[in-house]
Amino acid sequence: MRSVKLQVALFVLPCLGRAAAPDGGDIYKARCASCHDAGLPRIPTRDALKTFSAETVNRALVSGAMRFQGSDLSLAERHAVVEFVTAKKFEPETVPQGMCLGKPAGKPIEGEWNGWSSDLENSRFQSADSAGLAPSQVPKLKLKWAFGFPGDFVAFSQPSIVHGKLFVGSAGGKVYALDASTGCTYWAFDAGAGVRTAISIGPGSVAYFGDLQANVYAVDAASGAQLWKTAWTTTRALASPELPSCMTESSMSRYLRTMNGPPPTLVPSAVSSAEA
Ligand code: HEC
Repeated sequence: MRSVKLQVALFVLPCLGRAAAPDGGDIYKARCASCHDAGLPRIPTRDALKTFSAETVNRALVSGAMRFQGSDLSLAERHAVVEFVTAKKFEPETVPQGMCLGKPAGKPIEGEWNGWSSDLENSRFQSADSAGLAPSQVPKLKLKWAFGFPGDFVAFSQPSIVHGKLFVGSAGGKVYALDASTGCTYWAFDAGAGVRTAISIGPGSVAYFGDLQANVYAVDAASGAQLWKTAWTTTRALASPELPSCMTESSMSRYLRTMNGPPPTLVPSAVSSAEA
């Protein structure tokens, strides 16, 4: 009898004093409904929010368009409202899929497109030779592979293709290096905020880009390791970095010409001359 009581006591005790889990519906009503139930243009409705992935809504509240609305939610409250609006379980860690195994397969892709424009005059023109493609072939192109940005619902960064790798930023804040022939992933770098700029690859195989929280990054294009990150002078980095060909990686860190606004002041935390 005694031991039965003890078991009951042990079973019940851990539940005492546990704070009630936050209710996602209540948080939505108090913090989101005034705008999202108002039927205003551009604001996703409750029904529209249900189609979002949990990761996308979480990202919007942490570092995206809703970061001010998300800033005074506790972690548990944020997860609760994310699960409520999407009606999906929130599992923060997405296991990367489709990683490249070993060395690049097949012959390297011909032609390159580095950064926003293939030249510094922003002509956005690619000759047939450097494209590896004649105009007559364009109508006959067929889909070779497709890549879905995990958790995102919009794609807005222009891909760069350099030495058989395709570099592209995502709304969810990841920059991907894919195999241009097969679409497998070499690495994914987490910038934490959406990356809308094209990725410019500079000498020493360094990838340069900016994010929507106005940071500029230099990342080793071979491994995806961060070389440096610096705060920009504006609120968002939308323009793609242009890289004059005379620049080395270290002079680049002092001089990064951009298409809008003044050049940023760059203070690299660690400069490395990584080779791909
Ligand atoms: C003051 C009004 C307002 C409040 C409060 C608000 N939102 Fe929003 N929300 C907006 C607007 C406006 C947009 C569209 C933003 C845009 O297109 O840049 C938006 C967009 C979003 C998006 C889409 C983000 C994207 O990247 O396109 C999500 C997800 C979202 N809100 C979730 C929430 C959640 C969850 C809450 C409550 C914790 C919330 N919002 C509170 C006004 C609001």
